[in-house]
Amino acid sequence: SKGGYSHFMLKEIHESPLAVKETISTMLSDEAVVEASRIISNANRVFVVAAGTSYHAGLFFTRYLNLSSLTAIPVIASEYSSYKAKSGDVVLALSQSGETLDVKMAIKKFRNDGASIISITNVIESTISRESDVKLYMRAGPELGVAATKTFVSQVASLMILKSRVLNEDTSYLAKAPQILEDAVEETEGKMKRWSTLIDFPSVYYLSKGIGVPLAMEGALKIKEVAYVHAEAYPAGESKHGPIALVSEGFPVIFVNPGLDELKVNMEEMKSRGAKIFSISTVNTNLTDNEVIVKSERDLEPFALSPPLQLLAFYVSVNKGIDPDRPRNLAKTVTVE
Ligand code: F6R
Repeated sequence: SKGGYSHFMLKEIHESPLAVKETISTMLSDEAVVEASRIISNANRVFVVAAGTSYHAGLFFTRYLNLSSLTAIPVIASEYSSYKAKSGDVVLALSQSGETLDVKMAIKKFRNDGASIISITNVIESTISRESDVKLYMRAGPELGVAATKTFVSQVASLMILKSRVLNEDTSYLAKAPQILEDAVEETEGKMKRWSTLIDFPSVYYLSKGIGVPLAMEGALKIKEVAYVHAEAYPAGESKHGPIALVSEGFPVIFVNPGLDELKVNMEEMKSRGAKIFSISTVNTNLTDNEVIVKSERDLEPFALSPPLQLLAFYVSVNKGIDPDRPRNLAKTVTVE
């Protein structure tokens, strides 16, 4: 049941705080997480293998690890044949459904190469979890909308726990994540509804820097899949190296967390080309009227920034008369090559 919401996607965005709460409490008490973190700490390299939204969540993990002295490589599951693992390497497979064929095939190849397999799925005894040496579960609850929403933030929470265990960090900072999500949903929904009427262009860019880049990528994927708007995400610095050629009067550019001074320069640059600038941020930039501020602690920013990106895609979809729960050409679980 949609529990009073018009769509599963909207219901599931609103369920994110609860999903993340469950993820945190189960993963913090899961012995398998300790075992997984021990294996990752001793790994030669960690291949983080996933598709779609799960791949974007995986980019947080590779980033955290690469900022430490460990080596983590993000692998788009269908591209597994471009890599070779060896004994001592570890695969961290991320799949909400636990059934994505590309991920299964990648696991098979990397296991043959000699790697050990850790998985995080949302379905107990899914095929991918059965094929793993260590099985971790998000326990975000079932997700019925085709677009991954609550399971994305739950994956991010899972990966934060895992990296904190790997890096021997205190995990108490995570306790605030559900509240940050709840505030972000409550405080941005009205504005995203209004912004959705301003995305009236065939293309949109999502630009960010650092930790915001995977969020920009996820925002672009969401608006493509549920609202059929052509969207691309780039690290803002990279936008100068080609993408800016497309920017003309009225071109929407959504900046994700542009609090950084470097991003302000990119904002000015896009503005001077006539772009219609939007800012989803934890700080005020005063560079556009289309600005939404979310509250967050430094380490928990993905939880504050994700809901508005998901809500924007949802409302653009609904405005265009599309059913965001059942976008054309897409299936919840992709079991073909
Ligand atoms: C996007 C989406 C897809 C999935 C992808 C992987 O909203 O739902 O991109 O994220 O098909 O699915 P799982 O995580 O089940 O392997």
